[in-house]
Amino acid sequence: MVTYKFPDNFWWGSAASGPQTEGTYDGDGKGESIWDYWYKKMPDKFFDEVGPADASRFYHTYKEDIQLMKATGHNSYRHSIQWSRLIPDATGAINQTAVAYYNDLLDELLANDIEPFMNLYHFDMPMYLQEKGGWLNRATVDAYVSYARTCFELFGGKVKKWFTHNEPIVPVEGGYLYQFHYPCEVNMKHAVQVGYHEMLASAKAVQAYREMGQDGQIGIILNLTPSYPRDEHNPEDIKASVLADAIFNRSFLDPSIKGEYPPELVALVKELGILPDIHDNDLAVIRDNTIDLLGINYYQPRRVKAKETPVDRERSPMPDDYFDNYEMPGRKMNPHRGWEIYEKGIYDILINVRDNYGNIPCFISENGMGVEGEEKFRNADGVIEDDYRIEFVRDHLKYVHQAIQEGANCLGYHMWTCMDNWSWTNAYKNRYGFISVDIHNQWQRSIKNSGRWFKQVSDNNGFN
Ligand code: BG6
Repeated sequence: MVTYKFPDNFWWGSAASGPQTEGTYDGDGKGESIWDYWYKKMPDKFFDEVGPADASRFYHTYKEDIQLMKATGHNSYRHSIQWSRLIPDATGAINQTAVAYYNDLLDELLANDIEPFMNLYHFDMPMYLQEKGGWLNRATVDAYVSYARTCFELFGGKVKKWFTHNEPIVPVEGGYLYQFHYPCEVNMKHAVQVGYHEMLASAKAVQAYREMGQDGQIGIILNLTPSYPRDEHNPEDIKASVLADAIFNRSFLDPSIKGEYPPELVALVKELGILPDIHDNDLAVIRDNTIDLLGINYYQPRRVKAKETPVDRERSPMPDDYFDNYEMPGRKMNPHRGWEIYEKGIYDILINVRDNYGNIPCFISENGMGVEGEEKFRNADGVIEDDYRIEFVRDHLKYVHQAIQEGANCLGYHMWTCMDNWSWTNAYKNRYGFISVDIHNQWQRSIKNSGRWFKQVSDNNGFN
């Protein structure tokens, strides 16, 4: 008898991305992405100066890695196609070596009964497009749609679950507000335009998918940070929390599912005089091409209070001119990543989707715990005893289970991530995997305690 039993055919697995796992930036004809370029220019921006070419070698080891996925109970796995691998330069020519690689990867997954979920964009703008403005340039939307069509055409027979973006708010925040992605600008007007183009590109890819008569589902993956006011009875705190939610969650959630932007966000952008450049028919495209399936990445909540700190009027406006972050006393923290651990947040998101987004089919597409220095937990048998990760996943799964009991339409749970991987400017600082990768010892893989535990959970479709 299993206490926490999940629905039949629940998706158990993990997520990763091409740029974080594959490695070798120009191997086999891959073109340069913003990450390859930025690392070449400024290696010291990256933890221990480790760059994307040193991602965990999945490009060469996927066959063995897929066996490890099996051994850790995967029935599904998300990867992303690297745009700059498939279409390496501005001529638009398709890299046939990449086509063969992705086909082999998909065949290998399917042969092992692991359903491939494919994402089109995981922060990795090809440099030939970034040179012309990247997401700031409307031409990138057209280039993206043509890339999406190419992917559907090439791989649509094998992939039945597609995603237009992973966490589209992150390139907005990283690239145009808080400087942790190239091009590291601080410019709210550009941030709004970039987010708008990403959203338009997503809707146009959904439109293309349906026009092409593809027979799977298409969705988007959003990192949702449920917004909680410091004081639930203080109208100013509530207002701040509603606005933070509109900016960081509903900016993509609403147009992706409801086909329209939240009024609070529209009002703010108008007030600041930074409405994006919107062409005729764009809003109709967004309205008419909403998604089939929502991926939810959940790591941490956002706690906010009414603005108390002064705003520097000399600089560009920023979202946080409108609220302050709030550190709740006694909150549980992951000290390595500096993120609050609040398990109930995952339940609140699922209930919100149930009640306010038509209970659209969804799944947890990322959840996980980044930990620094995990080697010290390796036991005499060479196994990393990451029992804190088991506790983290289990405690979140309990809330997922509860939400499903209460009618949430949640179809699966994917951990971030399968094996330790390269994480942008953090490189290998924090490890997230079920499987460890020894980057100093020929990239050797070994299953952690959490991976063994997850296999049992998947086999039993639940846990006690
Ligand atoms: C998610 C991203 O937000 O967080 C991943 O989709 C990323 O790409 C993961 O690696 C962990 O991030 P970090 O910065 O803690 O390594």
